[in-house]
Amino acid sequence: MAAMWSLIISLLFLLLTIAPSSSIKFLLEGNVYPVGHFYATLNIGEPAKPYFLDVDTGSNLTWLECNHPVHGCKGCHPRPPHPYYKPAADKLKVQCGGPLCAAVRRDVPGIPECSRKDPHRCHYEIKYVTGKSEGDLATDIISVIGKDKKNIAFGCGYNQEEPADAPPSSVDGILGLGRGKAGFAAQLKGLKMITENVIGHCLSSKGKGVLYVGDFNPPSRGVTWVPMRESLFYYSPGLAELFIDKQPIRGNPTFEAVFDSGTTYTFVPAQIYNELVSKVRGTLSESSLVEVKGRALPLCWKGKRPFRSVNDVKNQFKALSLKITHASGTSNLDIPPQNYLVVEEDGKTCLAIRDASSDPVMKELNFILIGAVTMQDLFVIYNNESKQLGWVRAQCDKAQELESVIDSRL
Ligand SMILES: *[C@@H]1O[C@H](CO)[C@@H](O)[C@H](O)[C@H]1NC(C)=O
Ligand SMILES: *[C@@H]1O[C@H](CO)[C@@H](O)[C@H](O)[C@H]1NC(C)=O
Repeated sequence: MAAMWSLIISLLFLLLTIAPSSSIKFLLEGNVYPVGHFYATLNIGEPAKPYFLDVDTGSNLTWLECNHPVHGCKGCHPRPPHPYYKPAADKLKVQCGGPLCAAVRRDVPGIPECSRKDPHRCHYEIKYVTGKSEGDLATDIISVIGKDKKNIAFGCGYNQEEPADAPPSSVDGILGLGRGKAGFAAQLKGLKMITENVIGHCLSSKGKGVLYVGDFNPPSRGVTWVPMRESLFYYSPGLAELFIDKQPIRGNPTFEAVFDSGTTYTFVPAQIYNELVSKVRGTLSESSLVEVKGRALPLCWKGKRPFRSVNDVKNQFKALSLKITHASGTSNLDIPPQNYLVVEEDGKTCLAIRDASSDPVMKELNFILIGAVTMQDLFVIYNNESKQLGWVRAQCDKAQELESVIDSRL
């Protein structure tokens, strides 16, 4: 028996040594509410210092709140979790005509021409659904356990604009996981820290989660795979139609669906939103729930007693689903109540799907934007190599167990 075990162990050892995983795993902190972000810790600089970065599959540029040697940090968020990144001037010497800056200029729309006076400065401005950020590209050391130290490019963001009602920031910046050449995964691949541009995240409804970047083994069973739309700005599985309790919306409108982990809530065009709200109100008309305004969200309900979690109230709401049409057919993304409701601190439950027309940027996009709330407890995979997107329901709070399933090469 002992001999058998030692054989198994040496086999395991052999397998691990011949097939080293070249993915990087980040344990995530945060939640949908009240934090509003899921974030990874990145260690940057020498000596390495930690920064919390919002995991954002909806943008290409990674940046940190930054104390710039010339501009200071007047436009920075007043109290990020860590001291501002403070680069020496030489870290900001990035040739505007060079490949790094060219990648950023291609991936981030609307950057003005290089300035002749300042050829060694790579200036950018990036717009988000809420707010924008301005800075200069920097290069500095990234430290990841088990990997050689490498110089990575990211933004030194010294001027951030946020909506006036934005909550205090729980992050030091953004981890841009978009599919561009300046995106985090593409850069790690260029630095040979990973071999494939694949991203996977599992965001837990209980808070925390896990992010994989590289050639990790995705869950082997139950994954719905769809071809990634090539044409688009964002990661899109195709055209989606929303069903409420298995009923389509009047007129069967379809919109491009987009996976964006950096947006907390899900956004739908007004046409869908209005019908969703009236259907939900209809369902609740016989119930004891009373409609009220929330703190972070416009449409909430109070029960006889405060709710402690979505589990206390989910049975009163109907399931939604998205029927997604793509190049190889149709697939469904189920959205049970726990993927579209949140419970605020005072025990109200709120609709975590928002009207895109309430936001000036979202309004123009005309997407069904699938935010973090709707991706909770799903393992979502973005494979930029095979050009596929995948998802499967998973217990994302069991990150360690997930690892043994996913990282295992057996
Ligand atoms: C990310 O970069 C790619 C490639 O340059 C570009 O097509 C895409 O529009 C960018 N995405 C965003 C959200 O800016
Ligand atoms: C990801 O896909 C885009 C669009 O096809 C492509 O331009 C880009 O080079 C890919 N990135 C990597 C690192 O493979």
